[in-house]
Amino acid sequence: MQSKIPYLIDLQIIPDPEGKLTVLEAFPKAGFVFKRLYILSKVAPCAVRGHHAHKALHQAVIPLGGPFKIMLKGKGQVHNFAMQPDQDKALIIPPGFWRELYDFSPGAICLVAASEEYQEADYIRNYDEFLAWEKAHV
Ligand code: TYD
Repeated sequence: MQSKIPYLIDLQIIPDPEGKLTVLEAFPKAGFVFKRLYILSKVAPCAVRGHHAHKALHQAVIPLGGPFKIMLKGKGQVHNFAMQPDQDKALIIPPGFWRELYDFSPGAICLVAASEEYQEADYIRNYDEFLAWEKAHV
């Protein structure tokens, strides 16, 4: 079932005495298959990434190295997540959430799996415009 609010899913882990294998196949419960992967790295500890929402894009955010935080705003709620690689979880972000990614530890790596190819037209980069878009899409 496709959730309309952000949530964490367990990643598929295949443990082995000689190392851990993590499988990223698809996110069937999230209702999307990813078409694009991108990686955020070398983010300064004081930097804040994001500052935008997506109109139709679904994403899964997967921490690969070092913790960082994500704040999501939408549908009248604020959701805060502390992402840590050792938790073996992905954060599913449905469309329609303003996001800020911050508190990146040195060496943190954030993998994002996105449901569509890059389209600037899918972004809302102004918070007031996001609020207006939300109002029009309830
Ligand atoms: P953006 O999504 O705003 O990054 P973040 O949310 O991490 O702060 O993207 C930053 C810039 O990179 C912006 O100019 C768009 C460009 N970009 C692409 O060209 N292709 C992509 O797949 C992504 C994710 C971004």
